[in-house]
Amino acid sequence: MKKLLEKIDYNNIPHHVAIIMDGNGRWAEKRGEMRTFGHKKAIQSVRDTINGCKELGIPYITLYVFSSENWKRPKQEIDNLMYLFHTNLKVYLEEIHEKNVKIITIGEIERFSEMIQRELSFFMKKTKNNTSCTLVLALSYSAREEILRATKKIAKKVCDGFLSIKDIDYSVFRSHLYTEKLPDVDLIIRTSGEQRISNFLLFQSAYAELYFTNILWPDFRKEDFFEAIINYQKRKRRFGNVE
Ligand code: IPE
Ligand code: IPE
Ligand code: MG
Repeated sequence: MKKLLEKIDYNNIPHHVAIIMDGNGRWAEKRGEMRTFGHKKAIQSVRDTINGCKELGIPYITLYVFSSENWKRPKQEIDNLMYLFHTNLKVYLEEIHEKNVKIITIGEIERFSEMIQRELSFFMKKTKNNTSCTLVLALSYSAREEILRATKKIAKKVCDGFLSIKDIDYSVFRSHLYTEKLPDVDLIIRTSGEQRISNFLLFQSAYAELYFTNILWPDFRKEDFFEAIINYQKRKRRFGNVE
């Protein structure tokens, strides 16, 4: 671990890292267990990642916890996942609060049970002045839905005469997304070997670096997170310009 930390360039730390935490089901199935077992094991990887962010001074981390499309899964898996949220959310979020991390959510939070919504809003208030980093939980999140919602809000303002079409620029558009107060994503990490974005932060990751690893999410540890950051730091980001 010490060797890895020596490779980190503290002058080139990404501001915003987003993670597609994939592979829980396959991790469990490989062990002859129910998929939910993999979801349960995922928490240690979340802990490691948040600790890694704090150690490196990464100010924003977004975790793809549950996509809008994940509601399509068999009822038993959804029920088990919701039960897991119900029974553990409070303990997990308290633990995150103790790390001085601010919690915010993006996505269709209204699709979750009232109890889950209450816990989330309680911890968003409780952690709002925390300063070590901001953890963004993407819950029932769909980037296309986010973009549609923003478009509808802007269209309504135009129809109602509060906004003129000529004033709609990137910054206005951005301010209507769930992520209005967050910087663009610098790095997207996806575990489990799949190499796709799965409807995650499509607007915000226009110039993000992509990092794919075969490690299944429940096996992902702080060392693996540091490896991803070291890999990111080797990239030459040009944003369409020349060097
Ligand atoms: C990611 O793991 C967690 C969620 C999407 C809720 P998966 O459940 O997608 O696990 P795999 O990809 O089927 O192995
Ligand atoms: C993406 O993983 C969503 C989350 C990690 C929460 P999925 O497992 O749902 O994505 P696909 O279906 O493989 O694209
Ligand atoms: Mg998956």
